[in-house]
Amino acid sequence: MTQTALHPDVQTLLFSEAELQARIRALGRQISEDYAGKTPLLVGILKGSVHFFSDLAKSVTVDAAYDFLRASSYADGTESSGTVRLTCDMETDVTGRDVLLVDDIIDSGLTLRSLSELLRARGAKSVRLCVLLDKPERRSADISADYVGFVIPNHFVIGYGLDYCQRYRNLPYIGILKPEKYSSSL
Ligand code: IMP
Ligand code: MG
Repeated sequence: MTQTALHPDVQTLLFSEAELQARIRALGRQISEDYAGKTPLLVGILKGSVHFFSDLAKSVTVDAAYDFLRASSYADGTESSGTVRLTCDMETDVTGRDVLLVDDIIDSGLTLRSLSELLRARGAKSVRLCVLLDKPERRSADISADYVGFVIPNHFVIGYGLDYCQRYRNLPYIGILKPEKYSSSL
């Protein structure tokens, strides 16, 4: 089998496609056990969760519904602006539903805190959080995810849905972006 060359802007490979898939299948099994007998509403946060959401949902064996929200907290750089804007709302009425919010990464925690508060205020029966990556060093909101794929150190990462200025989302793996690729433009 040929090995895929890393993108030249990637400094280090963090998780290969195979490592991502194995961990996501395990998360799916855990979620399926925890939601046995329920019909959770899986809510993907666009755009970063797109690949994770799709692979995770296929590993969930309980009956589940989908919806999507689009939120933005970054201007166009590597720091959260702190203000979360809902740029596209979901269509499902969440009243009485068991909601599982699915996102690519929890960093400051501001995005997921604000979205989980919103869904609780709309009457969701339960709101849990599932993230592929957790960067706990950067947390400013008092919140933690219920399901975490991998805990990572404080580096800016790209690939598998994660972007820098809308680039690199389509890399099939997760890697650390070379710092010179963003420090010069900030
Ligand atoms: P938070 O509100 O600071 O937790 O940020 C959450 C959002 O910031 C995520 O959904 C990502 O879109 C983005 N983000 C945070 N860290 C990274 C990173 O290392 N690479 C790419 N996007 C990131
Ligand atoms: Mg995001």
